[in-house]
Amino acid sequence: MSRALEPAEPILSAEGTPYSPRYDDVYHSTEGGLAQAHYVFLGGNGLPQAWAGRDQFVIVETGFGQGLNFLATWQAWRNDPQRCRRLHFVSIEKHPFTREGLAQLHAGLADMLPLAQQLQAAWPDALPGLHRLAFEDGGVTLTLALGDIEAVLPKLVAGADAFYLDGFSPSRNADMWSPLVFRGLARLARPGATLATYTAAGFVRRGLREAGFDARKAPGFGGKRDMTVATFCPVWKSRRHAPTPAPEWKVRHAIVIGAGLAGCAVTERLASRGWQVTLFDVHDGPARQTSSHRAAAMHAHISSDDSLLSRLSRAGNQYALRAWAALAGAGQPVGWHGCGVLQIGENEAEAEAQRAALEALGLPESFVRWMSPGEAASQHGAGVPRGGLWFPQGGWVAPPDICSAQLRRAGDAVQSRFGTRVERIRRRDDEWEAIDEDGAVLASAPILVLANAHEAPRLAPMRHQVMRRVRGQLTTLAPGQVTALGSWPDCVVTGAGYLLPVSEDGSARVGSSYEADDGPLVARTEVHAANLDRLAGLLPQAAAAAGNLDAAAMNGYVGVRTVSHNRLPLIGQMPDEAAAIAAAPSLRGAHLRDIPRVPGLYAALAYASRGLTWAALGAELLASQIEGDPLPLEADLVDAIDPARLLLRALRHGQVGREEGHSSGLSG
Ligand SMILES: Cc1cc2nc3c(=O)[nH]c(=O)nc-3n(C[C@H](O)[C@H](O)[C@H](O)COP(=O)(O)OP(=O)(O)OC[C@H]3O[C@@H](n4cnc5c(N)ncnc54)[C@H](O)[C@@H]3O)c2cc1C
Ligand SMILES: C[S@@+](CC[C@H](N)C(=O)[O-])C[C@H]1O[C@@H](n2cnc3c(N)ncnc32)[C@H](O)[C@@H]1O
Repeated sequence: MSRALEPAEPILSAEGTPYSPRYDDVYHSTEGGLAQAHYVFLGGNGLPQAWAGRDQFVIVETGFGQGLNFLATWQAWRNDPQRCRRLHFVSIEKHPFTREGLAQLHAGLADMLPLAQQLQAAWPDALPGLHRLAFEDGGVTLTLALGDIEAVLPKLVAGADAFYLDGFSPSRNADMWSPLVFRGLARLARPGATLATYTAAGFVRRGLREAGFDARKAPGFGGKRDMTVATFCPVWKSRRHAPTPAPEWKVRHAIVIGAGLAGCAVTERLASRGWQVTLFDVHDGPARQTSSHRAAAMHAHISSDDSLLSRLSRAGNQYALRAWAALAGAGQPVGWHGCGVLQIGENEAEAEAQRAALEALGLPESFVRWMSPGEAASQHGAGVPRGGLWFPQGGWVAPPDICSAQLRRAGDAVQSRFGTRVERIRRRDDEWEAIDEDGAVLASAPILVLANAHEAPRLAPMRHQVMRRVRGQLTTLAPGQVTALGSWPDCVVTGAGYLLPVSEDGSARVGSSYEADDGPLVARTEVHAANLDRLAGLLPQAAAAAGNLDAAAMNGYVGVRTVSHNRLPLIGQMPDEAAAIAAAPSLRGAHLRDIPRVPGLYAALAYASRGLTWAALGAELLASQIEGDPLPLEADLVDAIDPARLLLRALRHGQVGREEGHSSGLSG
């Protein structure tokens, strides 16, 4: 289980070098951290020459510390006219400094200070898991993996070109230099990957060799006679699931079907990587279907065992907030209202469970803390019946505003084909074709992303995937009705239902129902009445006034959620069901990576009730998969949302028979 992280303190040694009492070691050579970064880590890996002219270059580091190696590498990239197009830096850290700690340590960084300040501004809370920070308009991406190397390294999905081994002295911190770590690095190494470290310890060289690195001594830095450099060249020839070089796309053009939260986010992420996108939607503009509501809330999910959903939604929310801030920074604000979210238990027992989970997790208060009913009333005007979890970073937004900002940001890279239904898709000559009802080809491209929610199976049959349609209805209270209810919260309140603060026009929303989609999408009086009951449960003092409202006269948005068998989304490359069925006997013990995939066909589907949480991260995940970038999520989380997961389960249980094998109908 992911536990709270213990941040590091910015302490200096007598010589003025950052020092860790925990490990009784200094963070870098007393001869200078930047000089060491240049000599040992960049120089030892043949950088910057090694990335010259490359489309993408990936560095993996053990021990981020104060980030001097990262900053030196970033600056070298900036100064190099031959630099790779995109630089990825993935770094593992168990005890991150706080933002303030970093600022203290970076204070003396003369000409590098502007970069350090950008790093500080983007610095995440001390939350376990991966944090993706983008700089230089996406040219430099830092993926921080916060946690113990033993737990984190096996979960990284990346193909590395170079390694920086910087985990304190091996004699003081054996955990960072174990055979497990060396094997973990080898798993990530692309053919010919290089490695450098300041240590000359014999056991490190031997361990690296055993893992497949050709490790040798090189002249050391400062007072050290030797250091170690290495090249990955295992004597054994084949490695299962070995990382490959990034694909070389001759044409960066994708078709995206569906212009809701899912499709607009994918469009923006692909465009940011230099892709042209042809975006189709039946409607005459973006966000006209399920994503059309003007009030969606987002907050983290907490569970005492830090479940997959908790970890995934934490990653999704953190990434979404960054992505929206980046859009705002680029002049395309999404209208996010970071007012905070109060989640109260449905009853006292649930409230107790929430408190216990909070205590067990020990997450930072900047992320989640307990809020008493007294504080909720006095600070937020929320007369809730009991205390609950307070998510200071939570809030609400109108999904159509996000979609519009993303499409504006994508600019000329997106060709929007609104008012156009894609009737069929077909794979021909290594390209996907989108076809209309007359059989005419609307567009063709090597990549096609299905972002069309519950309508996806009409284009790409999915026998081994469940997508239910779940209807939902919100109730809008007119400004006068809100005023009549007395004090209205200035934050989102959730529990058995939820309510949002007043919008610019003085109205407010209450939601929402969750029921089978069994009829036309028109508002129902009985659902408005149920929403008003939900309101009364959340704000008992407003119950009487809410009871006076005429449900038959209320308005509100109605939509359909697309929900998978376990409510987690389907994001990733589509499985080739026909090929998997044909090979079923050999796939009984398979892993998701063994499942045959349909070339170039991806899904961004089943966002259920959490479109805000999944859309931005899902888009970054897909774009990373397509480009062969390090993934922004740990492997088990990627697997948890893989569109092939039910197929894998069926294969493992022997529930897939040859008789099922049939053409997917997607080719020819
Ligand atoms: C009542 C209710 C309340 C909700 N509240 C929240 C909330 O508070 N927070 C939150 O995060 N989420 C919330 N959600 C969920 C959120 O709205 C969805 O997860 C999200 O909108 C789904 O986005 P999407 O892009 O997958 O689907 P959609 O927005 O439906 O987009 C799919 C698009 O595909 C297009 N399309 C389909 N087939 C084709 C085709 N063949 N050719 C061309 N175009 C096609 C459609 O026209 C549509 O525009 C709520 C949902 C409901 C119903
Ligand atoms: C020498 S410092 C790294 C210096 C850093 N590369 C820089 O440029 O500033 C070593 C780092 O490894 C981290 N570390 C130590 N043990 C770890 C472990 N088991 N898992 C992950 N990180 C660890 C420490 O917290 C420390 O920040």
